[in-house]
Amino acid sequence: MQFILFFVCIVTLVDCEMKVLRPPELVDRLGSKVQNALPNFGVIPFGHRLMGYVDMAEPNDGCSALQSAYSSQFIMMGRGNCSLVTKVLNAEKAGYSLAIIGNNNESPLESDLVMEDDGQGYLVNIPSIIISQRDFFIMKDYVKRLGVLEVSDEKVFTLVKFDVQKTSRVLVTLSLDVSDRDSYRVVDEFSQYYDLLKNEEVGYKIGYKIFDGNSFGKDLDYQIDSDNCICSRRYCAIDPDGEGVASGRNIVEEVLRQSCIFENDGKEYFLYMNAFNFKCTKAQAYNICGNKIINTLKLSADKINNCIETSFLDISNHHVTKNYTIAYNFILDQQLHSADFAGMVGVPSVAVNSVVYKGQLTGKGIFGEICNSFITPPSVCRSEVENYQQFESEGQHYLFWVMLFVSILIAIFIIVLYLLFKKFVLRDSVEVTQVQVNEMVSQYIKFNEGKSQQRQSSF
Ligand SMILES: *[C@@H]1O[C@H](CO)[C@@H](O)[C@H](O)[C@H]1NC(C)=O
Ligand SMILES: *[C@@H]1O[C@H](CO)[C@@H](O)[C@H](O)[C@H]1NC(C)=O
Repeated sequence: MQFILFFVCIVTLVDCEMKVLRPPELVDRLGSKVQNALPNFGVIPFGHRLMGYVDMAEPNDGCSALQSAYSSQFIMMGRGNCSLVTKVLNAEKAGYSLAIIGNNNESPLESDLVMEDDGQGYLVNIPSIIISQRDFFIMKDYVKRLGVLEVSDEKVFTLVKFDVQKTSRVLVTLSLDVSDRDSYRVVDEFSQYYDLLKNEEVGYKIGYKIFDGNSFGKDLDYQIDSDNCICSRRYCAIDPDGEGVASGRNIVEEVLRQSCIFENDGKEYFLYMNAFNFKCTKAQAYNICGNKIINTLKLSADKINNCIETSFLDISNHHVTKNYTIAYNFILDQQLHSADFAGMVGVPSVAVNSVVYKGQLTGKGIFGEICNSFITPPSVCRSEVENYQQFESEGQHYLFWVMLFVSILIAIFIIVLYLLFKKFVLRDSVEVTQVQVNEMVSQYIKFNEGKSQQRQSSF
C-alpha cells in the first residue's frame, strides 16, 4: 500500500537558468538572468551546467545547413520559417552543443511550446532553449559583431544551468495512459533503470488518465455515457475506439489492475507492462488478456485480485462491497487526483521531485534526471552525474577523518605507554637506590660499630 505514494502534487515547471557572463555592457542591458523555456525534445542534461561562446546562425533562421562550429559552443537563431526541430538538428550537425532560439512573437514563453516536436524530435541529441523576443533582439546585436571563425574573448559568453530539485529521497511520478503505446515504451525503457535503482532512495507514483464523469458533465449539460464509467460514473475514461465495441470502462478496469500490480510488486509491474504492450491491443479484451499475462508470467495473481476486490468500498459504511453502484474505489480516487496534473503536461510524462521532465522522454533521460536529483547520488549514478568524483572525494574526506582519528588514538596510546614506562622505570630506579642507600647505611653502621668495638677493645 505504501508503495504508491499518492498526493496532490504541485508541479513546478522549473526551467533552466541562463546568464550572460560577458561582455559587461550586455550583462547590464539584459540583467543577470535571461527568461527562457525548454521545448519537449532533445536530450536535456538535467543537473549539468554548460558554458560557452555564442555564434549567430547564418542565415539567421537556422533552417539550412550551418557553418561548422569553430570556437563557440552555442548558436543563436530566430524562430520561424521551419520547425524548431530542424533548427536544433542543424545546430547539432554543425557541432554546437546548445541552440538558443529567439521567440518570434511577444506571447509569454512556454505557452505555445508543448506541441513543437514535429515528429523528428527523437533525432535531436542536444538541448535547446527558447528566449523572449526582447532578449533575443538585444543579444543578437552583440552576438553578430563577431563571426563564426573569429576567436576572441570579446564574444558573448553565457552560462546555462539545467537545474533540478535536489533531495535525499527522490520522488518519481509517471503519468501514463493505458491505451497509449508511447506510455508502454517509456515504461519499458525505464525498466532496467528501475532495477538499477531498486536499493536507492527513490519513491514512485504512477498516475493514469481517468476522470470523474459526474463533475465532467455538470457545466457542459452533457452526460458521459455510463458505458465509459464504473461506480455510477465516478470513474470514467474516454472511449478508446469511438463507435467500436470497446468502452472507457475497459480502460478504467485496466487502470485499476495495473495500479494494483504496481502496488504489489514493482518488478512484476514492469514484466506485466512489457507483455501487455505486445499482446493486448484490443481494449475490449484487456480484462481477459491482462489476466492471461498474470497467469503466464506467474505473477502474484491472488494478491493482485485481492487488491482489486478490496478497493471497492460501500459509500455509506466504508466496508468492502461487490455492489459497484453504491461503491467508491480508493485506488481510483487517488488516480483522479494524479490525473489533474497528468492532463497538464500530456501523457506520457514524468516528473522528478515535481519538476516535469522536458526533452525527449527516454528511459536513460529519466534515469539521468533522477540521478541528478539526489543530494548525494548513489554509485549507480556514476555515469550520469557531472564530476562524480566530487562525491567520491567526499568519501575520501571521510577516510581522511577516520585516518586522523586512528592516528590520534595511536598517539594517545603511545603517550600513555610512555607515561607508564616512565613511571615503572622511575620506581625501579628509586627501588635500586633505596637498596643501595640501605646497604650504604648498614655498611656505615657496621663501620661505626666496628670502630666503637675497636675503641672499646683498645681501652
Ligand atoms: C525567414 O525567411 C525570410 C525570407 O527568407 C527572412 O526575411 C526572415 O528573416 C526569416 N526569419 C528569420 C527568423 O530569420
Ligand atoms: C446495489 O445497491 C443498490 C442500491 O442499494 C440496489 O438497488 C441494487 O439492487 C444492488 N445491487 C446488487 C447486485 O446487490
